[in-house]
Amino acid sequence: MSSLKGKDILHGNQFSKKEIETIIKTASEFEKELKKKDSLTLLRGKILATLFFEPSTRTRLSFEAAMQRLGGGVISMGSVESSSVAKGETLTDTAQTVAQYADVIVIRHPRMGSAKEVADAVSIPVINAGDGAGQHPTQALLDLYTIRKELGTLKNLSITLVGDLKNGRTVHALVEVLSHFGVRFYFVSPDLLRMPEEVAVRMKEKGCEVIETDDLVMAASKSDLVYMTRIQKERFADLSEYEKVKGSYIIDREFLDRLKKKITILHPLPRVDEIHPEVDSYPGAAYFRQMRNGVFVRMALLAMILGKR
Ligand code: NCD
Repeated sequence: MSSLKGKDILHGNQFSKKEIETIIKTASEFEKELKKKDSLTLLRGKILATLFFEPSTRTRLSFEAAMQRLGGGVISMGSVESSSVAKGETLTDTAQTVAQYADVIVIRHPRMGSAKEVADAVSIPVINAGDGAGQHPTQALLDLYTIRKELGTLKNLSITLVGDLKNGRTVHALVEVLSHFGVRFYFVSPDLLRMPEEVAVRMKEKGCEVIETDDLVMAASKSDLVYMTRIQKERFADLSEYEKVKGSYIIDREFLDRLKKKITILHPLPRVDEIHPEVDSYPGAAYFRQMRNGVFVRMALLAMILGKR
């Protein structure tokens, strides 16, 4: 039985290396099974509730698809306006209500620490699908799964993370899960959007090499993979600050030509202007394969949390 049974998924740093390896293995088994069958019956009778207080396309839909591929059901709070949140209900009251109807909750909320608050308030497992500029641990696991699949290994990799490293919850979670594998990181950002100091320090303590720079061509030409991110406009209190940094880094054909080598490109999406659509046909552009992997990884997590793997 999985060590994740009954557990919350709140932070990228909560997993042991062994747990990460088990999640990857389980996800890959589900990927194979879905080649033979459209859906499985492992979670028949179980209900997942999705509670999204911020926009989402991939995360919510891939969680819902994952639950349904496992034979389970899904209930969703349509929108904040259509629920009692609009009448002033607190987050924990809403969560306690949902916990009466479902076996597991997936929550996305703009406030950092909100998923933990909900997890403390309810007795069923809670999965953090993004808490403000905090964490996004299930995205990190699907990113890791994608990196292993695209590059064939997680050992001795050089990885460039670029864009909004200050506010990007995907990169905050990804470095945590990657830190078990002795990665060399290039953190590429405008000065205003640097990776929080304590994260860079912790990565070094965990034995990773960290190089901070604003030179994307240099970093990418020394890396196996570039992880691009969107500048998180919604996290800026002052939009004139956003105007200063928007469009800082753009991957287009001209950029790829300058690298003089093939590189793998990931992006959690949505993109604004940071990857030109002309790059989509480039063999190393893996971001559409990456989003598909989200279903397999979320299937693995749901099956493990609900004690069926
Ligand atoms: C990201 C998110 O919501 O944090 N998207 C995702 O979950 N795939 C990235 C973003 O919004 O920039």
